[in-house]
Amino acid sequence: MLKLGILASGRGSNFQSIIDEINAGKLSAAVSLLITDTPDAYAIERAKKHSIDFLYLNPRDFKSINDFYARIAAELTKRSVELVILAGFMRIVRKPLIDAFPNRIMNIHPALLPAFPGLHSQKQAVEYGARISGCTVHFVDEGMDTGPIIIQAAVPVSPDDTEDSLSERILRLEHKVYPFAIKLYSEGRLSVEGRIVNINNYNMNSDYFINPPLSR
Ligand code: GAR
Repeated sequence: MLKLGILASGRGSNFQSIIDEINAGKLSAAVSLLITDTPDAYAIERAKKHSIDFLYLNPRDFKSINDFYARIAAELTKRSVELVILAGFMRIVRKPLIDAFPNRIMNIHPALLPAFPGLHSQKQAVEYGARISGCTVHFVDEGMDTGPIIIQAAVPVSPDDTEDSLSERILRLEHKVYPFAIKLYSEGRLSVEGRIVNINNYNMNSDYFINPPLSR
């Protein structure tokens, strides 16, 4: 059984979608631990409700940010976690964690990378006037939202969209796409060569690419 470690800073709705998929028997995995850097993250309530171990670690309690990440790596390793899932973890992951889990840390980002990396991606997309945005699941490297792309899914952007309305449309897709990417991993279908992720038996017509209508 694939053991997951979740890192989350806030609401944790992506964390919830993974729990739900596991509980529905659609994803063969178990969450071993939630680690948060935020003492009142709602993700903690979700962990409690589902009897999942959780740990709050304050980066300020460590001598350096590398020590913080070394501790996270140690906690995950102690519980035999194989795959680390960033679910709204609002920090750049540093070397001690990346080196401990090479190509075994996934992140979800609410834009079609490499467009709109960093914070407030949905706002960036609206303000830029993008007509399509979406979400990206990628393996994490030392850059900000730069690692090898596993899967992407698109949504249309309307001229009437606000940051909130676009965020909500993308989030609905995130909740499908993230468990799907983890499932690909759990089935041993992902391999990484440089920055290219190969997916064994990939179906390009997968539900996760959504085209906006081009004609009325
Ligand atoms: C999600 O939209 C996720 O894509 C985004 O934060 C939100 C977390 O929501 N992540 C990032 O922006 C990372 N750069 P959640 O806590 O409800 O899963």
